[in-house]
Amino acid sequence: MSFAEFLVALRDSRPPAVENAVILARVDSTNLLAKRIVGDYLREELEPPRHVLLAWTQTLGRGRLGRTWSSPPGKGVYASIVLPADDAATVARLPFVAAVALAETLRATTGVACRVKWPNDLLVDGRKLGGVLIETVARGDSLAAAVVGFGINREHDRDELPPHGTSLRLEGVAAPPIATLGWALVSAVLARLDSDAPLGELMETYRQLSIHRPGDRLVCQLGDERVEGRFLGFDEQGHLRLATASGERRVGAGEVIAS
Ligand code: BTN
Repeated sequence: MSFAEFLVALRDSRPPAVENAVILARVDSTNLLAKRIVGDYLREELEPPRHVLLAWTQTLGRGRLGRTWSSPPGKGVYASIVLPADDAATVARLPFVAAVALAETLRATTGVACRVKWPNDLLVDGRKLGGVLIETVARGDSLAAAVVGFGINREHDRDELPPHGTSLRLEGVAAPPIATLGWALVSAVLARLDSDAPLGELMETYRQLSIHRPGDRLVCQLGDERVEGRFLGFDEQGHLRLATASGERRVGAGEVIAS
């Protein structure tokens, strides 16, 4: 498929929940552009509207913790959803909203056994199929917008991925056309965002999709610090509860590097 065909397919199948969309042939990073757009609105003293950015390729795709995200043309879904200012509680649930919506949609549309590694890596048998990068933009001391960026490896070949990466193609599953998959994933995130379902329900679904089971030994990297412990579960904020040698520890940021 060419970019022109992708554009037409996206235009012809735009879901009603997506009022504003920016479709890009090539961009440094949809998250970076999203933050620049929000900045432009703020400079004009305007509220940025909810909108979606989808790119055919990214030249500077960004992952969590300063990593890069491989974004070859037409081979993956590279998307960012801009959400106007919201309360801190809504922003705190975004990682879980995104992880659940994306994993459920990948399972439903492709049959792939996608599960979630805390906080929001999308894995198939330990191989990384997709990821989520959530960033915020402030106006003075308050929150102006959140950007939920996600990347899904659809047709990436082995040499286009990091060592533990995978793609739907490499997993041998039949995926919907890229525009269909892109809108399905975006729609699922928006539907979860707009859902009135209580946080407990979201976290129960997250628990079911999680690769972590109570009793697992986890090693977490928190900046320069490494924390090891037995996984006890998630608390009501989605933090990891770990039984460490020095007592229970709750981990709200960072990454699980071994489990
Ligand atoms: C991760 O490291 O797991 C997060 C990967 C997030 C990648 C997506 S692709 C679309 C959006 N734009 C970016 O530059 N990154 C995110």
